[in-house]
Amino acid sequence: MCGIVGYIGTQAATEILVAGLERLEYRGYDSAGVATVDEGKISCVKAKGKLFNLRAKIEQSEYKGQLGIGHTRWATHGKPEEHNAHPHLNTDGTLAVVQNGIIENYLELKEELVSKGIEFRSETDTEVIPHLISVFLHSSSSLMEAIQKTIDRLEGAFAIAVVHAENPYELIVARQQAPLVLGFGQGEFFCASDTTAILPYTRTILNLENGEIAKLTPLGVEMYTFSGDRISRFPRTLDWNPTQVEKQGFRHYMLKEIYEQPAVVRSSLDTYINLNWHADENPDYSPVNIGLTPDMTDNLEHIQIVACGTSWHAALVGKYLLEQVAGIPTTVDYASEFRYSPKPVIPNTLTIGVTQSGETADTIAALESERARRVNLDPKYHARLLAITNRAESTIAQICDCIIDTQAGIEIGVAATKTFVAQTMGFYFLALDLAYRRQAVSNQRISEIVEGLRQIPSQIETILDTQADAIEELAHHFTNETEDFIFIGRGINFPIALEGALKLKEISYIHAEAYPAGEMKHGPIALLDNKVPVVAVAMPGSVYDKVISNAQEAKARDARLIGVTTAMNATEAGHTFDDILTVPEVDEIVSPVLAVVPLQILSYHIAAIKGLDVDQPRNLAKSVTVE
Ligand code: F6R
Repeated sequence: MCGIVGYIGTQAATEILVAGLERLEYRGYDSAGVATVDEGKISCVKAKGKLFNLRAKIEQSEYKGQLGIGHTRWATHGKPEEHNAHPHLNTDGTLAVVQNGIIENYLELKEELVSKGIEFRSETDTEVIPHLISVFLHSSSSLMEAIQKTIDRLEGAFAIAVVHAENPYELIVARQQAPLVLGFGQGEFFCASDTTAILPYTRTILNLENGEIAKLTPLGVEMYTFSGDRISRFPRTLDWNPTQVEKQGFRHYMLKEIYEQPAVVRSSLDTYINLNWHADENPDYSPVNIGLTPDMTDNLEHIQIVACGTSWHAALVGKYLLEQVAGIPTTVDYASEFRYSPKPVIPNTLTIGVTQSGETADTIAALESERARRVNLDPKYHARLLAITNRAESTIAQICDCIIDTQAGIEIGVAATKTFVAQTMGFYFLALDLAYRRQAVSNQRISEIVEGLRQIPSQIETILDTQADAIEELAHHFTNETEDFIFIGRGINFPIALEGALKLKEISYIHAEAYPAGEMKHGPIALLDNKVPVVAVAMPGSVYDKVISNAQEAKARDARLIGVTTAMNATEAGHTFDDILTVPEVDEIVSPVLAVVPLQILSYHIAAIKGLDVDQPRNLAKSVTVE
């Protein structure tokens, strides 16, 4: 949460900083600010609310400084007001700091600084940093030394960038448990919370690691550990294309990302499925190439998955597959819960972190604590950590032993869509690989599932081509008076009901809950009346009849019933549902990847018709880097 960006070079910094912040706005958008250094002075501009407010203020003057820092905020300490926006300055305004993270001991530090007569202008934790650096500057030979001494006093997770009017050729940045990437241009250098901010200028990047501090000058980058030891690391070149982070004519990123799903699934199939694998030839190699080494997969007794939000829903689909296809007992925990109430340690356990940002603080903490509590035990208890993510360069990818790169690329819309579908595909590949290695199901069944997956891209295209308009039409019915929605599903599609409800609530602000369909009569059915629409995910297969019966029970309570089902079932389902969102014919085992698409489109249109900020819903951030 929060995005920071920094620039030093030969161009005017302000436009580069604001453009960078626009690309980071998904990380937080309740206030923003920039500070630049020019002619021995710091100019700082801040504005409450979205970035266009900051832009409007900046346009009133000319800022020529070629060194600067910027910040877009998701409030943790202190309300989203201008005086709490970053950058924060020291008392005489000669030093500016932006921070992403939380300084846990800021109250203690603040008291100490106040007792020295320093006045605070904000309620933020960050403001202690410029004041501390200022104090340490008196007893230090360089800005770097003063920052090192300051960092020594900070507890918590943070990434910071600092500029000082008296050091106009230095941008100093540091990282401790919050992401920070450096960009290397021609005579210009960048830092940012995410590569997206610097991608238009350079694809040569280096991820700062925890405990590292860097000095960026117009001549190059020097890197040190927090304790001052010089280190050298080499940047790498990304093969990303800047247009991946453009809207490309779509009204919103979310819509663009929904439409990217066929390509994302195709790319994951091309990357991982072994086309030469034919069940009837009894091949002696796996149908999928996810590159897991035997030390990750041998003798597995148990799989545990940690994730948050939408990624947690993908994990629930994963659990179904890992248990029902690969036959391995699997647990799924919210990462935020797992850390404080870990499961008993079981030997030969694979631990999976699922994440679209790769930076979620709770998931990082859960994975790290899992590694730590097993490290001194007998080897069979040692942690085997696997990340399922689209961000191969992220912190979570780095702390895990292996990753399945879901091929979804960067997602900008705060509500996850393509990354969910891609994570779910990641679980199919994993379950098929493990099922094959353990001979948990026949090669014939593996082949059927693979064939089902290979149909998914064109089937999603069919939904987008044939259903999108009808779903938009339907969305109009729920934009005025509807205050609550219920989603139901069973088996492998219960997580899709959960995901449908989450998408709707996060972007349309309509209250939505999801239940396993069979649970409705144990309580939630009391909520139903003619004002509460019910969406039933009713995909043909083992639980279809049960879902239809549960939907009938809702109908008997006057609920408007919307069914997600296949074309072949549509006529029959027409007797039950008031509205039908049709998907192509599909094997139940792969149906979640299709069933979620109409629900994404429905949520999108409800929110868009209501005129809401679909890509940046209130109170949310794309990358949740605080606990
Ligand atoms: C919802 C959404 C969030 C994230 C959650 C975990 O649309 O995107 O619920 O899934 O914050 O984030 P990651 O996947 O980055 O770990």
